Amino acid sequence: MKILVAGGAGYIGSVCTEYLLDRGHEVVVFDALINGHREAVDSRAVLIQGNLEDAAAINQAVAAHRPEGVIHFAAFIEVGESMQNPGKYFRNNVANGLNLLEACVANGVRKVVFSSTAAVYGMPNQVPIPESEPTKPINAYGESKLMFERVLYWYREIHGLQYTALRYFNAAGASPTYGEDHNPESHLIPLVMQAAEGKRKSIKVFGTDYDTPDGTCIRDYVHVLDLAQAHLLALQSDICGAFNLGSGNGHSVRAIIDAVREVTGVDFAVEEVERRPGDPARLVGDSTEARKVLGWQPQYDDVREIVRHAWAWRKAHPNGYKA
Ligand SMILES: NC(=O)c1ccc[n+]([C@@H]2O[C@H](COP(=O)([O-])OP(=O)(O)OC[C@H]3O[C@@H](n4cnc5c(N)ncnc54)[C@H](O)[C@@H]3O)[C@@H](O)[C@H]2O)c1
Repeated sequence: MKILVAGGAGYIGSVCTEYLLDRGHEVVVFDALINGHREAVDSRAVLIQGNLEDAAAINQAVAAHRPEGVIHFAAFIEVGESMQNPGKYFRNNVANGLNLLEACVANGVRKVVFSSTAAVYGMPNQVPIPESEPTKPINAYGESKLMFERVLYWYREIHGLQYTALRYFNAAGASPTYGEDHNPESHLIPLVMQAAEGKRKSIKVFGTDYDTPDGTCIRDYVHVLDLAQAHLLALQSDICGAFNLGSGNGHSVRAIIDAVREVTGVDFAVEEVERRPGDPARLVGDSTEARKVLGWQPQYDDVREIVRHAWAWRKAHPNGYKA
């Protein structure tokens, strides 16, 4: 297949691009390099530096390359920032995405696979969370992703554009070549690793009085290579709709800190502070549907292995993608 990957210079997009190329697909990356890195784009891919806010640029890219499928990773991803500046999130994650869909419709793209998020569920009633759980985001980031899922639904109804929305839980790990280099970083595993590297003086644990066995929040960490596998399966499938992608295992903040200590062999300071508003005690995905319907077979269910892969990438890239 020929596939256009919007946001392919970012963390998940770079690993997914490599995964597709390794399996013989042709990839065109469209990325503004606002948060991504040129060095994160596999040299076998064509890189077009462009912004989805530029309708002519994305239309030209799709018209020139005529991809059969499009994967849409391009978005802003900071929950905290989305609650300070919601306009930035709705503009990029919803409005700019429309330019991509218009280009798909105009140029006969068959299918779009979209990066959605567990944040569409807000504070869930049931854990593990099935897709039937009501969607009630509690931040503008999650709302922007849910809005785009609805947009996809209507583009399918009206234009026949097929779509799969993949609701990731916490993406983690790395391939041997591509890994996570966000600035600012807000994800737990890289933050704990920064403490292990001495790049931050401690790791903060927000709340130790949650109703969980060790009192800290529980999250579901899914390997970025398993996410890549799901994107290819979704592109190959004719089934439309939204699917959870999680490992199904929950790990507490303390368990992640222990795993990083074990993998790195480094001890570091841990600071216990107040809860943050809006953090649910447990977020674990039920991904039975993705396994059953898409045939997804995640390969990594051991969080220590996920941490080991992330650490190996950081050791090889101590300054991230900066030389
Ligand atoms: N990282 C996670 O744990 C996680 C969890 C759930 C969902 N997601 C979603 O997965 C996707 C990828 O996440 P990531 O961690 O790789 O993020 P990232 O910031 O590393 O990658 C996003 C990429 O999109 C590009 N981009 C953003 N806006 C653009 C625009 N208007 N035009 C062109 N390029 C643009 C950025 O330059 C960047 O390279 C995002 O949509 C995110 O919301 C991520």
